[in-house]
Order: sequence, then C-alpha cells, then structure tokens
Amino acid sequence: MTNDQKKETKVLVTYFSASGVTRGVAEKIAKAANADIAEIVPEKRYTDADLNWQDKNSRSSVEMKDKSSRPAIKKNISNIGDYETIYIGFPIWWYTAPTIINTFIESYDLSGKNIVLFATSGGSGIDRAARDLKASYPNLNFIKSALLNSPSDDEVKNFIK
Ligand SMILES: Cc1cc2nc3c(=O)[nH]c(=O)nc-3n(C[C@H](O)[C@H](O)[C@H](O)COP(=O)(O)O)c2cc1C
Repeated sequence: MTNDQKKETKVLVTYFSASGVTRGVAEKIAKAANADIAEIVPEKRYTDADLNWQDKNSRSSVEMKDKSSRPAIKKNISNIGDYETIYIGFPIWWYTAPTIINTFIESYDLSGKNIVLFATSGGSGIDRAARDLKASYPNLNFIKSALLNSPSDDEVKNFIK
C-alpha cells in the first residue's frame, strides 16, 4: 500500500455487542469498507442474567432505566484522531441505544468526525436511538443510521456508500 492509499483509510467501525449479533454485522461492514474495527468492551462483561429484560432488577434493566448510567468501558482505542468517519454499532435495548454507547461517545473526542450509526434488534427500528443520540450530543455530526438485521452483501455495500 502506498502512503497515499494509507491516508485514505480513515474509517473505523466500532461496536458494542452483548451476544454477538452486532459483532457479525460490524465485521461485515469493516470488511466491505476496508475499515479498521474496534470493539467497545465493557469493563464488566454482560452475563445472560444481566441481559434478562424480563427481570426488572437485571443489570441491563437497571442501566436502561437510568439514562445517566454510564457502564465503564475499556479504553482500547489509542488513535481515534486518525479517523474521519466512525461507525458505531449496537443492539437496540428498550427501543434505544444501550447507555454504554453514551460512555463510548463521552470517552473520546468525536467532534468533527462523520458518525454513522447501525444497530441490530429483535424487530425495533433504529430511529429512536438515532434521535436520542442526536439530542444528547447536538454538536456531533451524525450523518446516517440504519438497522441492519442479517444484512445481505448488497445492503452492506449500499450502507457504506
Ligand atoms: C436488555 C435487552 C433489551 C432489548 N430490547 C429490545 C427492543 O427494545 N427491541 C428489539 O427489537 N430488540 C430488543 N432486544 C434484542 C436485541 O436488540 C437483539 O437481540 C440484538 O440483535 C442483540 O445484539 P447483540 O448480540 O450484538 O448483543 C433487547 C435485548 C436485550 C438484551
């Protein structure tokens, strides 16, 4: 790769995935976009019991009820400044983005970057998550969002255009 080509590679795909579905989509996007990829890793992994939405006292229920919760993440991205475009992927939790996505956004300087959101879900859309994040971070440049449940190669290609 020449230096010029290297300079063009300024896309990072980040994702949080509690049970692996969003990870699979993130890997597809990163491959198609020739992008780097970085997982948003919780300090404390979510167990099956943590993810039980039928239990009002489960970790995910408690976190999602408290919009100010900020589950700790491992700060594993040292070169965020290198990227012009950042994809952020997550599962829809309670119709919106998990609060760990807020932790991620608040942990790095994303100002001036193009931010693209994608999500997987059991059927809910991504619109509310996108609206909530835009409202919380009005100074960030959210350019696009899409729900990508089991996307085909063509869907992924269209998404990254
Ligand atoms: C705590 C919790 C809340 C969820 N809430 C929703 C929801 O509101 N709507 C929906 O369609 N799916 C919901 N789901 C399903 C996930 O969005 C879906 O299984 C997703 O693909 C999981 O992605 P992951 O494997 O990357 O974690 C929820 C799952 C969990 C664990």
